[in-house]
Amino acid sequence: MSGNRTFTMIKPDGVAAGNIGAILHKINEAGFRIVAMKLTKLSEEKAGAFYEVHKARSFYGELVSFMSSGPIVAAILEKENAVADFRELIGATNPAEAKPGTIRALYAKSIGENAVHGSDSDENAAIEAAFHFAGTELF
Ligand code: CDP
Ligand code: MG
Repeated sequence: MSGNRTFTMIKPDGVAAGNIGAILHKINEAGFRIVAMKLTKLSEEKAGAFYEVHKARSFYGELVSFMSSGPIVAAILEKENAVADFRELIGATNPAEAKPGTIRALYAKSIGENAVHGSDSDENAAIEAAFHFAGTELF
């Protein structure tokens, strides 16, 4: 993947609260094109593997349990400067610190249940996209 793609998930809180449509609207409005998307659910094992990098952190157990608690929407998004622009669109991890108008400021409940995931580098975007969409046709 070449700097113009990122990976996102609408997390279980966002799906459960009925915010899939509103969040996708913000994503489209910001100029991202959806090149792959699915409604799916992570097993504890898959959630644990996805967030492996955070294994040593105090919140890891809670994060894995939350991320496997209900359905999510996973998607690959395309736009110039996708990774950085998407991080800007979602706002800070802690919604209390997220800029007004960002997806997390609008829809996140807490630092843990924060509505959306966004990749933090081109390298991780490629890894995370492959984790969910290996073998899937991209549009
Ligand atoms: O998602 P983001 O890249 O903004 O944050 P992160 O530092 O990579 O952490 C991954 C996820 O772990 C966050 O989005 C939160 O859901 C959760 N987390 C948490 O529950 N408590 C923290 N103090 C930090 C992160
Ligand atoms: Mg992160």
